[in-house]
Amino acid sequence: MKILVINGPNLNLLGEREPGIYGDQSYSALSEMVMDKADELGVKCEIFQSNHEGAIIDKLHSARKDFDGVVLNAGAYTHYSYAIRDAIAAIKIPVIEVHISNVFARDEFRKNSVIAPVCKGSISGFGFAGYLMAMDALAKYSQEA
Ligand code: DQA
Repeated sequence: MKILVINGPNLNLLGEREPGIYGDQSYSALSEMVMDKADELGVKCEIFQSNHEGAIIDKLHSARKDFDGVVLNAGAYTHYSYAIRDAIAAIKIPVIEVHISNVFARDEFRKNSVIAPVCKGSISGFGFAGYLMAMDALAKYSQEA
């Protein structure tokens, strides 16, 4: 099994960015956690980050041939990118939406996810652990599928 983890805008600044909300661990610490989890699950994994909507869409398109599932933290694009929503709907592999913070406990605009209806499921509010939960879910889902 091959899992792709995509992180959207501003997540490269984890550790520096609003540590009260996102914690003080860096993006490379997150990447390390994700790769360790992949080893534990015995799956292959790639991590990708971009601050650009089109690059995220291109990555989702290319994932449809090379990966069995995607863990996606689309950052603020979650709340308004119909283009990313359409890209998720266009590919057949499962995509799990992840947010580090509890998006329902923050600003009004964060309570709406335009991508949630086309994702397999959503995880929000568990910090970096949310990525690991999503990887567990993908590994389990692929066995059931
Ligand atoms: C986020 C939540 C989004 O609302 C925000 O724009 C982010 C990060 C999270 O992981 O909690 O960039 O996706």
